[in-house]
Amino acid sequence: MKRVTLKESAYNVKTGKILVAKMLTAQEKYFKIALAGGESLDHEPGQFVMVAVPGVGEAPISVSSSPTIRGYFELVVRDAGKLTHVLHQLEAGDTVGIRGPFGVGFPTQILEGNDLVFVAGGLGIVPLRSLINFVIDNRRDFGKVSILLGCKTPQDMLFGDEVDQWEKRLDVNFNCTVDKADPDWKGNVGLITSLIPGVTLDIERTFAIVVGPPIMYKFVIAELLKKNIPERQIYLSLERHMKCGVGKCGHCQIGDVYCCQDGPVFSYDKIKNNIEAL
Ligand SMILES: Cc1cc2nc3c(=O)[nH]c(=O)nc-3n(C[C@H](O)[C@H](O)[C@H](O)COP(=O)(O)OP(=O)(O)OC[C@H]3O[C@@H](n4cnc5c(N)ncnc54)[C@H](O)[C@@H]3O)c2cc1C
Ligand code: FES
Repeated sequence: MKRVTLKESAYNVKTGKILVAKMLTAQEKYFKIALAGGESLDHEPGQFVMVAVPGVGEAPISVSSSPTIRGYFELVVRDAGKLTHVLHQLEAGDTVGIRGPFGVGFPTQILEGNDLVFVAGGLGIVPLRSLINFVIDNRRDFGKVSILLGCKTPQDMLFGDEVDQWEKRLDVNFNCTVDKADPDWKGNVGLITSLIPGVTLDIERTFAIVVGPPIMYKFVIAELLKKNIPERQIYLSLERHMKCGVGKCGHCQIGDVYCCQDGPVFSYDKIKNNIEAL
């Protein structure tokens, strides 16, 4: 039997040095992190890392940057509880523990050559941004690209400058909406589902990639199915409470799958009968 060294093991905690830390909204903080010794994270879009603060704990956080960026990676953390609150106190120069990357990400090889519709609600833009920027950096390998974004208010929009750049691109069909507008907002107001009927789709070659809060999935999937997109061409990223991140503790189990190891990305046909999942 091959012996796994600690360095190769999923329990190996690497040191991540925070290069940049800044608030993006009142609740979400951005971190640009480099691994010690210039080691590359080597993640795939849709994967997550376990971020640790010694003496406090560990939490799964999606990698938000594209793997086409080398030398550092980006995370966005919402202040949701004990560990994430401590992460919000950290600044450039501080260090965190990093395990991973873990999980099954978005199936970039299956998506290649096809049309893509990205649907992101709220914090869903954080993992989806990794795939969107990967696709933009390899634009010729993909067909038509549509990006649909939704958030509660204009102030909750993450990565505003980058989103503006996506909107300006001639090779991207972009639309966004907010639940509640302010006087300066010129765009759509309403749920993200209201954007789906306006997208023209070739169902033979369109894949929809949906990430957002649990409540969003049911309604977005219903709209996509109304457009006749086959179930196997709809991908979702699911969030569950996790402890180990590597299929050992059972905390993230949904029916017969472990979200940390079999997911977090699943095709809808594989997960639809799993009543706990949606
Ligand atoms: C695959 C994956 C990717 C994630 N990516 C991100 C990300 O990019 N950015 C980000 O800010 N957060 C992300 N999360 C959620 C993040 O892991 C939790 O917010 C974090 O674990 C909370 O830890 P805490 O110690 O701060 O909160 P705790 O003190 O443990 O809990 C505070 C509250 O948050 C709830 N909570 C804890 N974990 C989760 C969870 N997984 N889902 C929903 N509610 C939870 C608890 O029930 C409690 O009500 C991700 C989760 C998963 C599973
Ligand atoms: S988090 Fe432990 S099995 Fe998935």
